[in-house]
Amino acid sequence: MTNRVVLIGHPVAHSFSGAMQQAAFDAAGIDARYELWDRRQIDLAAAVAELRGDEFLGANVTVPHKEHVVPLVDRLTEDAQATGAVNVISREGKKLIGHNTDVPGFKAALDKLVGRQKMPRNAVVLGAGGAARAVLFSLITEGFQRVVIFNRHLHKGEALVRHYGRSASHMDLRAMPWHESVLEAELAKTKLLVNATSVGLTPGETPIPAELLPPDLLVMDLVYNPPQSQLLKDAAAARCVVMNGEQMLLQQGALSFELWTGKAAPIEVMQAELDRAREQGLVGEPIDMGPADGTGAAEPDQTPTPAA
Ligand code: ATR
Repeated sequence: MTNRVVLIGHPVAHSFSGAMQQAAFDAAGIDARYELWDRRQIDLAAAVAELRGDEFLGANVTVPHKEHVVPLVDRLTEDAQATGAVNVISREGKKLIGHNTDVPGFKAALDKLVGRQKMPRNAVVLGAGGAARAVLFSLITEGFQRVVIFNRHLHKGEALVRHYGRSASHMDLRAMPWHESVLEAELAKTKLLVNATSVGLTPGETPIPAELLPPDLLVMDLVYNPPQSQLLKDAAAARCVVMNGEQMLLQQGALSFELWTGKAAPIEVMQAELDRAREQGLVGEPIDMGPADGTGAAEPDQTPTPAA
């Protein structure tokens, strides 16, 4: 019997997860097929119920269902419980387990972005959706001291501050109104900027005007398609060290694979497949990432080296 793993989202066609996971199954000799399920919210419960069938190893869950899927599984891991978001479902017998591998995936990517520098203690996070939840919980548990959330709708940022009230009681976590003067003042005080909004998926669109970016900032944009968003182009031009969302995609994907199969993920194969998908899918957009490829933006002694 060929096993099945699915990506549940809406839309899903843009995702690189299918190619990456299928290549991993094939390389590991696992008889499994990764399918893309485009499902509206009204069909989500039925889609999750279907995963209880014997042929399913589990699923990935993506936009906009990561939060809606929480009450539909039987048990949540600590990261999923804390974030209130699930991006992986695995099975234990008949039971469905909800995980959040975006949290360790983001931490692994952040480690690579920071490289040999000291882990910063201050950050500005743009966005208050599902992706921002994972980013914030990572920063809280990583020991950040001050994190400021900017979101188009301030009340959602404030709701996230309340959500993390207890886990963030040791630190200064706050939401601020998205005004350029406030953003500029906060960016001048911080070391790390994370874009967890979907602005940037459309080429040329950016959440922050280029002139607000100070030099020497570490900038992570969770957008990976296009590989170099306008924000990252502007940040590299401002001599910031930049990274797109591909590392986080890769790392969360490797952890997903391990949860479904119980085997170590063939991470080089997955990276090679991402390279191939990027080259095939995105004509003429060169990838120019700081830590992995060297933007030339950082001073030589500050250039982070990818972790082993
Ligand atoms: P994800 O799971 O990728 O985080 P999401 O939960 O739909 O997706 O969240 C999308 C994020 O991008 C939100 O923070 C959203 O801001 P609002 O909460 O104010 O809607 C942000 N976003 C989307 N489009 C935006 C835009 N045009 N300008 C600013 N922020 C935007």
